[in-house]
Amino acid sequence: MNYQTILTNFENGICTITINRPDKLNALNKQVFTDLDAAIDEVYNNADIKTVIITGAGPKAFVAGADITEFGGLDKEQAMALAKRGQDIFFKIENCKKPVVAAVNGFALGGGCELAMACHFRLCSENAKFGQPEVNLGLIPGYGGTQRLTQLIGKGRAMEMLMSANMIDAHAALQHGLVNYVVPAEELLNKTKSILELINSKAPLAVAACIKAANAVFDETQNGYATEISSFGDCFITEDMKEGTSAFLEKRKANFQGK
Ligand code: COA
Repeated sequence: MNYQTILTNFENGICTITINRPDKLNALNKQVFTDLDAAIDEVYNNADIKTVIITGAGPKAFVAGADITEFGGLDKEQAMALAKRGQDIFFKIENCKKPVVAAVNGFALGGGCELAMACHFRLCSENAKFGQPEVNLGLIPGYGGTQRLTQLIGKGRAMEMLMSANMIDAHAALQHGLVNYVVPAEELLNKTKSILELINSKAPLAVAACIKAANAVFDETQNGYATEISSFGDCFITEDMKEGTSAFLEKRKANFQGK
């Protein structure tokens, strides 16, 4: 597909989505949302795509937030509709059955931090900086940031970041559990791809069940333990489960089909 504000690349089952407005530090404007939404739909629908990387173009920023130039003149209803639009796209990422990982290559501020947090996990480069600077603008996060930051780094640390607008560097992000790895910028995509290649070798339906069950922790409409039991049962009736257990017993590598 052709997009105006993102680039997509497909290799070895991994789709890399690059937010591509480097002169505006990849700020999320309406067109980025349109393109990202369509790209995630493609991820849902294209069986060849097994896993996804989201990153930003250029050496400086992952995404420096929502595009502030589009805020002017919005009334309350329009502002709420904008937040709902962002939340819906980020829920679509969070609930994707295929792993979606953020490779944070610089500033991840405001909506950029929120986008990274909607991904299933995150790696970052040594120059990355994370923050929710909305209070500088008389705002709060609108794309799930108050919720996911609290889930990921705990209430005290999240409250401080939200209320102070302070940025944290890559090493603090690692210490707080916001990212899983910090690597030199030039190694970021390769490190992310190596993790996804490993995941791509596992049983896809079981990987999807991991996402579903782990997401249930934070979904008050579900009992996560009950979700785990039903997902465990679902795995038992897959061909991949038969293949995985047979391969183990026969001391050979499993060949999973995602069935
Ligand atoms: N929305 C719209 N444009 C943005 C943007 C955003 N969130 N973040 C950066 N830009 C634009 C700048 O306006 C500038 O455009 P210009 O060259 O046409 O003037 C360009 O991107 C480069 O940014 P600049 O501020 O010159 O870079 P810097 O290195 O001096 O500062 C930041 C980098 C990230 C600290 C700074 O850009 C910033 O604070 N951005 C806003 C972050 C924010 O508040 N995000 C939350 C939004 S709700």
